[in-house]
Amino acid sequence: MLAFLQKLKARTIALMTLAAAICFTAIACSGGSTSQAGGDGINPEVVVDYIHTVLLADRTAYTKHVVNRFETLEGKPNENGVVPAEATEGWKETGGIPLPAQMFRLGAEIAAEEGTFTYGLISPWNINDSQAPKTDFEKEAMAKVIETGEPYKDYQEIGGQKYFSAVYPDNAVAEACITCHNTHPVHLERYPDKQFEMGEVMGGVVINLPLEGA
Ligand code: HEC
Repeated sequence: MLAFLQKLKARTIALMTLAAAICFTAIACSGGSTSQAGGDGINPEVVVDYIHTVLLADRTAYTKHVVNRFETLEGKPNENGVVPAEATEGWKETGGIPLPAQMFRLGAEIAAEEGTFTYGLISPWNINDSQAPKTDFEKEAMAKVIETGEPYKDYQEIGGQKYFSAVYPDNAVAEACITCHNTHPVHLERYPDKQFEMGEVMGGVVINLPLEGA
């Protein structure tokens, strides 16, 4: 008899837990509203922060745990390297692997096919010409980010389309970031006085979130 009662009690608790879970899910879903950022949906500031968290995590992981394991980094020996190959701008021709900035761009190009939002890398100490800050927003945001080390976020309009845009600091998170940039021939030629240090802002990650009906 006692065993039966205990069984019944356990079953009741399980049922109540299930009911509570269904209830919670229903509330969470109805409260979730639309997926369009900036409308009556999620705050665009939160959306860009989430996107940035993922971008930064992948970028850092790729640099620290893939690029940094290669024996040669853009023509120079890497003392931490264990894989007998090179991370180099000419990776396609040489049988190497892409540099972190190239990897980032390869991802950005695939993501852009979705047409939901765009992102990219910029820097006032750019090696690649197409990665200089271009729009007024990018120039102002980049300067502020270098000054403060904090992200810069604002609304902007490009060709009649409104965006919520953000620039996050792109910091020297691994030794490989600074050794490669500081010794790169283009860097040395263009910015002979600029030597990056660990942790320093080397550029910015730009995210442009188009706002519907704005
Ligand atoms: C082995 C060399 C190498 C390593 C390691 C490397 N970079 Fe670069 N980086 C480059 C080159 C070369 C470019 C330009 C090539 C391109 O984007 O097509 C570049 C581009 C960039 C840009 C865009 C502006 C520009 O210079 O065109 C930023 C910002 C940047 N790197 C920051 C970093 C950070 C931060 C790290 C570490 C997480 C890092 N880089 C690691 C070589 C390197």
